[in-house]
Amino acid sequence: MLVLGIETSCDETGLALYDSTAGLLADVLHSQVELHALYGGVVPELASRDHVRKIVPLTREVLARAGRSLDDLDGVAYTAGPGLMGALLVGATFGRALAWSLDIPAIGVHHMEAHLLAPLLGEAQPPLPFVALLVSGGHTQLVLVNGLGEYELLGESVDDAAGEAFDKAAKMLGLGFPGGPAIARCAESGRSGRFRFPRPMTDRPGLDFSFSGLKTFTLNTIASIAEQQPLTDQDRADVARAFEDAVVDTLFIKCRRAVEQTGVRHLVMAGGVSANLRLRARLEHDLDATVHYAPPRLCTDNGAMIAYAGCQRLLRGEREPLAIAIRARWPMTELEPPDDAADRAGGLPG
Ligand code: KG4
Ligand code: ZN
Repeated sequence: MLVLGIETSCDETGLALYDSTAGLLADVLHSQVELHALYGGVVPELASRDHVRKIVPLTREVLARAGRSLDDLDGVAYTAGPGLMGALLVGATFGRALAWSLDIPAIGVHHMEAHLLAPLLGEAQPPLPFVALLVSGGHTQLVLVNGLGEYELLGESVDDAAGEAFDKAAKMLGLGFPGGPAIARCAESGRSGRFRFPRPMTDRPGLDFSFSGLKTFTLNTIASIAEQQPLTDQDRADVARAFEDAVVDTLFIKCRRAVEQTGVRHLVMAGGVSANLRLRARLEHDLDATVHYAPPRLCTDNGAMIAYAGCQRLLRGEREPLAIAIRARWPMTELEPPDDAADRAGGLPG
């Protein structure tokens, strides 16, 4: 089954072709980072308009790269949420209309489920059940995965997501957007002992996270340095290092707890923050579990993970009516395994 995947939930237009036998044939990505950089964050209306501009040329490009045509497609998968409504609408209307014109099925994919499955696109084939650490710009969650669509939420952030914390800390340090890679780069020359940031919510039981306090701590640390003298590059690097150490340590402590509590010895990390090399190294080295993750370019938003997730559900017979449904907020625990979803949609089309 050849599926075109379309990702437009935020500030990346991603298109990919996934074949259930041959694997990932091609993926193309247009990042809007420069478009939003001036504003220090994503401007929703600008994002939607840019998706409109890019979606058709990128569809042509991904087909050309794979040496395929529209007639070769067996299905279309698009991100249906969570995300920015206007941005989601672009991919959803385009995807569904394209599928209708070709008389093939289209399916709306949950963005976080796609992140969660992205490591399976590569060599990682963790046995079920596994624990998933989902860390992106909008989500920080620990999930017990029992199967496709069978997700048990173990814990999540009560305020900011880990990626959001990276972005805000980077902004305070004047490091640009997106903050995760910028902080990681800057922290490379930082000294780890100079500042000690808190490890929020690690001193009490449970698997929830909180990252908004780290933001205040970063602000106060910067202010106390600036009282003495203007910030030097070394100061910035030391703060970035202390911040990154705190986030990595906090995520590690909760993952260790999740592994201990569930007795499950396989952990999949996914979402933009899972591209962080220090986090990967810490989990791989210190966690009493096998750690699986996607290659860095498939950790952040991309069309390949949408094509893959959509293909898994289409292959298991899930079908949707023609109506376009997108959701800005969408708890992953509301998802169902494909068999149940197919029943609910009135079974398979003839
Ligand atoms: O999954 P993603 O691309 O988009 C969402 O679904 O949110 O995640 C984006 C987030 C941003 O907050 C970005 O700063 C963070 O992932 N990120 C990183 C790294 N690369 C991206 N955070 C830490 N270290 C990185 N190397
Ligand atoms: Zn994402």
